[in-house]
Amino acid sequence: MHSTHLFGLLSAFAATPAIVAAYDTLLFTEDFFPLINTRLDPIVTPGKVSSHVHHVVGSSAFSATQDHKLSQSGKCTTSNLNCDKSNYWTPQLYYKWKNGTYTAVTGDGMTNYWKYPLTNTDEANPFAEIPDDFRMLAGDVKRDDFDVNKAVSFLCVDAQYSYDYTDYMPTDRECLTLRPQLHFPECWNGVDSYKEDNSHVAYPVDANPEGGKCPDGYKKIPHLFMESTYHIKTENIGEGYEWYPGCFVLANGDNHGFSLHADWLNGFPTNFLTDAFHQCYDKASGEFTKDCQFIQQYRGDIGRDCVSEGDVVNELVGQHFAIPALPGNNPEYNSSKLSDNYPKKEIPGYTEQASIVKATEQNGGLCNQGVCTDYKGNDAVIQQQQAGNAIPTSSGPTSSAVSAGTAVQASSAADYGVTSAVATPELGQTSSTGAPVESAVTGIPTSDTLRPTNGDLGSDATMSILPITTPGEPAKELPTMAAIQIGVAGDDPASVSGNGNRWGGGRWSRMFSRV
Ligand SMILES: *[C@@H]1O[C@H](CO)[C@@H](O)[C@H](O)[C@H]1NC(C)=O
Ligand SMILES: *[C@@H]1O[C@H](CO)[C@@H](O)[C@H](O)[C@H]1NC(C)=O
Repeated sequence: MHSTHLFGLLSAFAATPAIVAAYDTLLFTEDFFPLINTRLDPIVTPGKVSSHVHHVVGSSAFSATQDHKLSQSGKCTTSNLNCDKSNYWTPQLYYKWKNGTYTAVTGDGMTNYWKYPLTNTDEANPFAEIPDDFRMLAGDVKRDDFDVNKAVSFLCVDAQYSYDYTDYMPTDRECLTLRPQLHFPECWNGVDSYKEDNSHVAYPVDANPEGGKCPDGYKKIPHLFMESTYHIKTENIGEGYEWYPGCFVLANGDNHGFSLHADWLNGFPTNFLTDAFHQCYDKASGEFTKDCQFIQQYRGDIGRDCVSEGDVVNELVGQHFAIPALPGNNPEYNSSKLSDNYPKKEIPGYTEQASIVKATEQNGGLCNQGVCTDYKGNDAVIQQQQAGNAIPTSSGPTSSAVSAGTAVQASSAADYGVTSAVATPELGQTSSTGAPVESAVTGIPTSDTLRPTNGDLGSDATMSILPITTPGEPAKELPTMAAIQIGVAGDDPASVSGNGNRWGGGRWSRMFSRV
């Protein structure tokens, strides 16, 4: 595994333009603000409440029955490429408090890399055109071992600014940045928009997820590499955050990470991805024109003002309050088959209490300018804690205080302190259903965090991932890429944001994805 000193690395990058050649398969990137964190998955469980909470970006139309047509009807996208009305989603990352409750970690949205590895491709017909209704999954929610396809990994940047990639979430050190990331399959059977077992697509057979050899009968399609960056700090988790081994859990209950997966539901204009290739690839030189005119015509402000107009599930997802259990039937487990906490022991007889409702700003449950809130409608459902989930501590309640296994309907969302998006219920308050009211954890990002991101976007692009505003405060001006470039030219990356730790999204991504 690689490990190096970040500041050294950064200045090396700034001073050595030749390194750009390492990106010759990268045609364009997209940075996304979060759209919604909810239990929907229109690919795997269309029309239903899905099994776990997803962190979703992209088209504002995102709904339980999303398809290409519906995507296109979205009034906006949270991407900074305004023609991409796709949706992308992956399990939300949670922090587990020592008393067994969970808080959603505030993330940076996503960064996507569209790459066109030219190896093993037919010059005459390099990348197949995908149908409008194309969808696919990356990774495997059932995985219980190292990924033979080498598609899934986690980046960890530690307190010494050393970084490392692992196939699982590290338990031997605290990560200041934790970034689940994955390659999508780049081989397609040339026929199906989707197959229920995802077999219409495949990873390369040679364990080379990017530019590898496709199985016989499969064609190359453009390559998607996706990152979701989480800055692990009190502002993004809540007062009292402290690291301990195993404190991070994916929304499906996996505290190890082998099961990391993601979904892409295509919402690009017809043949955009192949058109981009033909328009931006200079055959004579064999090189890409980075972010060429064809792509730039769609470059807009990053979609931070784009708010969901689709569906949401009427439940608390731990956005600002520690919730007693992960939403859905998701007892915590370790996805390594060698662990004694494997396999996942789902609650028998679990019945779904939550339902799909229209997303409205009034009812919350969606993200606005990077700040995601919990659903606060009167019908809000809260998943109850499973017995035995708490980590024994000298203080703090034990899990026997709450009943095992079922979701209860809150008689009133106010019972859970959900009177406003940033409500602060009193500690020790008890709801009419007897469920404990969680003390508020702020989870609200601070406003002083301007994060420069990807340099591939042109110097006038206004770039930041998150967060931009604090509710009640005026929006901050975002630095332009030109300003960021000047900042980067110095040796001290802290000169841009005032805090090297806070560098987010694409800038990290760009460096780390190819090192
Ligand atoms: C999960 O199990 C593996 C294999 O036993 C172990 O190495 C890892 O530390 C475990 N992770 C957690 C969070 O317990
Ligand atoms: C568990 O700990 C969190 C974080 O300190 C707190 O917000 C929450 O109220 C606690 N929950 C219970 C049931 O004690």
